[in-house]
Amino acid sequence: MNASTLSASDLKKQLLEHLQGDLQAVNEVMRRKLETRSSFVSDVTQHVSRFQGKQIRPMLLLLTSRMISGRADRNAAMLAASVEMIHLATLVHDDVIDEAETRRHVTTVHRRWNTETSVLLGDYLFSKSFHLAASTGDAEACRLIGLATDRTCEGELNQSAIRVDGSTTETDYFRIIRDKTGQLFGLSCLLGARTADGNTAQQKAARRFGMRLGMAFQIADDVLDLTQTTAETGKDAGNDLQNGRLTLPLLRACQLASPETLFRNGANDRESLCEVEAVQEGIRSALETAEDLVTKSIRDLTHFPASADRSFLELIATFAVQRRS
Ligand code: IPE
Ligand code: IPE
Ligand code: MG
Ligand code: MG
Repeated sequence: MNASTLSASDLKKQLLEHLQGDLQAVNEVMRRKLETRSSFVSDVTQHVSRFQGKQIRPMLLLLTSRMISGRADRNAAMLAASVEMIHLATLVHDDVIDEAETRRHVTTVHRRWNTETSVLLGDYLFSKSFHLAASTGDAEACRLIGLATDRTCEGELNQSAIRVDGSTTETDYFRIIRDKTGQLFGLSCLLGARTADGNTAQQKAARRFGMRLGMAFQIADDVLDLTQTTAETGKDAGNDLQNGRLTLPLLRACQLASPETLFRNGANDRESLCEVEAVQEGIRSALETAEDLVTKSIRDLTHFPASADRSFLELIATFAVQRRS
């Protein structure tokens, strides 16, 4: 496997083949956990679980476990389902905050139903996730999940505070993405190492890998918000822009041109903004920062012996920044 000759869809296909049984186990745990006798609750949970995303967090957990012990056990499947459900909960809430219309190529919950349903569904998914994690009997895993979720929410809260007060620095930006995205990626890899009985150094290296990768993944997501269409990503193009959120590519562009020049045509004109040279340079520079994080994250993996699972982790890291959706 070589990142330079592999396409994103080839990687997806190979990953699904490699992790087939393990991922099926995760999805089955999720499906059973979300079973309910209420037809309304079933409608809303199916709306968010039927349209699957990339499942990158459960894959990271499974691959990290397999890289260390050669297998992913029942607890790994349960914890991977728990992490994916936390991710889902944050997406449902995030779409309310961002007033998003589309998620995973379908209508968002608050547009299909209403905000009340979204807030309650997000709470329900958080609660289901914690209950599921607790049923593994692993109290330390539950503590780690609670801690990472605290930080994820803190990231979203800090992001909303910045929107209120209007100014963002790069320091703010990195703190926010470390929390809102890095924490859950770090948690996934740490839990993978833990379920494989990895030693303390391995658990630390796995978490560090995930944190760095998560930050790179978020920077790439922030670039895609500017460069891709809704049809390509399955979520509202230019949503950050519309919400007045200055992400890394635009923060870098603002170092080269004044915000007045950049936003002359208003925040809705994503395509003409992308034609401005300072913005193109900002995008290039942000992607370089993401690539640096990926290089460092791959270095964290050298703590582990080479294996097919480690190679897949390296490929996921490489594609986190090269992706188009
Ligand atoms: C979206 O995460 C939120 C970010 C952290 C950027 P994903 O891109 O992993 O979403 P899905 O699960 O594949 O839809
Ligand atoms: C990630 O930020 C949100 C969470 C971590 C919950 P974004 O707002 O960029 O995510 P998308 O683009 O809506 O998926
Ligand atoms: Mg959003
Ligand atoms: Mg985004």
